[in-house]
Amino acid sequence: MLSPQILIAPSLLAADFSKLEVEIRRIEEAGADWLHLDIMDGHFVDNISFGPALVATVRKQTELPLDVHLMIERPDHYLPRFLEAGANSITVHVEPEARHPVTETLAAIRGAGCSAGLSLNPATPFETIEPHLPNIDVLLVMTVHPGVGGQAFRPEMMEKVKRAREWRAANQSTLHIEVDGGSNVDTAKLSIDNGANVLVAGTSIFRSKDYAKEIRELRGKK
Ligand code: DX5
Ligand code: ZN
Repeated sequence: MLSPQILIAPSLLAADFSKLEVEIRRIEEAGADWLHLDIMDGHFVDNISFGPALVATVRKQTELPLDVHLMIERPDHYLPRFLEAGANSITVHVEPEARHPVTETLAAIRGAGCSAGLSLNPATPFETIEPHLPNIDVLLVMTVHPGVGGQAFRPEMMEKVKRAREWRAANQSTLHIEVDGGSNVDTAKLSIDNGANVLVAGTSIFRSKDYAKEIRELRGKK
């Protein structure tokens, strides 16, 4: 089977919020594939980022697929608002602290014609998400503890990426394997080598001088 194409999903969390439209334009021109939007509610994670109103604003400014990562409690309750805001994929967390019926939430996302993603924190074992694999489009493996950008990548998470790759191959699935947190040119290579095909990157792209060069290098191209 051919290896899937590598997709780069810049995380808007690391952008300069005082000139969001300019940042979105720059990231589009630099060749981003998806735009990753980190939603934090101050409960599931301590940090608070932004909500559906900002997602809707971003939707008006770009045609890029919006990859919405819900690090919130009760994602099932808030789901309609993010669908309405124009998300193309919505990822929820499997941990009990997210307080929602995981199977039903995933079915609701897919039922709305949106891609369904499931994520697991560094401390959560792979087995927790395994039963859901046939019912999702994106598996998001957290390579840092969720909550803030700019943390160091945890290479030990590659075990989960490998297991997801094995599952994808064994089931001839088109599952996207996405990694989130601490991606830079070095760790991106590790993720890709282990089977990830979507790389979220905040700090490494938005703190670089040349977004296009950084995106190319994250893909493993010169
Ligand atoms: C972490 C978020 C990530 C984060 C990535 O809680 O889910 O998307 O913003 O940022 P960097 O690339 O800076 O680790
Ligand atoms: Zn994220």
